[in-house]
Amino acid sequence: MKKISKIIVGTHNEGKFKEICALLPKNIIKISPKNLNLPSPDETGNTFVENSKIKAEYFSKKGNLVTISDDSGLAIDLLSGAPGIYSSRWAGPTNDFNIAINKVYNELKKFNIDYNEKKKISAKFISCLSVCWPDGKIVSSIGIIEGKISKERKGNNGFGYDPIFIPSGYNKTFAELDSKEKFKIDHRSKAFSKISNLF
Ligand code: IMP
Repeated sequence: MKKISKIIVGTHNEGKFKEICALLPKNIIKISPKNLNLPSPDETGNTFVENSKIKAEYFSKKGNLVTISDDSGLAIDLLSGAPGIYSSRWAGPTNDFNIAINKVYNELKKFNIDYNEKKKISAKFISCLSVCWPDGKIVSSIGIIEGKISKERKGNNGFGYDPIFIPSGYNKTFAELDSKEKFKIDHRSKAFSKISNLF
């Protein structure tokens, strides 16, 4: 298969855009949907895979270029997997992650959690990456990182729910980790490693 030399990184989320660009080889030309004046499609799927495919298919068709898209989110076991595919929507129309994080803690409060008991509030980040070609061919891959929700928000790096997620085996949140350290272990890089042969 012909190696990809130019690609749309199909997201309007700046944090995600940066992280996907960092995973891709340096020599590939990366294009943002913003540069092409393309809005995001509605995420009408019921799973990460469906939504990831919707985005990749939409941008590749509209932009007539290979596209990589991600659908991802935080799944908290105690909340039956919420916010899950609604992770972005929990931040409201202004995409304010203080709102989303407050919502997480408010929902968890309903369970009378005693964080001092060191009982783990298990959670995972899930990413589905899809690569779609203008002829409709599509390849998808899922990556998961397990961890827990921290007692309080910590750290300034990253984006989204990073300040409240502590990956298993660490005692720092994703937002306290250096971005390079996060990329080595996170859900997106795990999904990417399974399709890196495409690039
Ligand atoms: P969507 O895939 O664009 O619908 O949005 C996924 C949402 O999940 C993002 O807006 C983030 O808030 C959250 N999310 C996904 N991956 C990460 C991550 O690596 N760190 C923090 N939040 C993330």
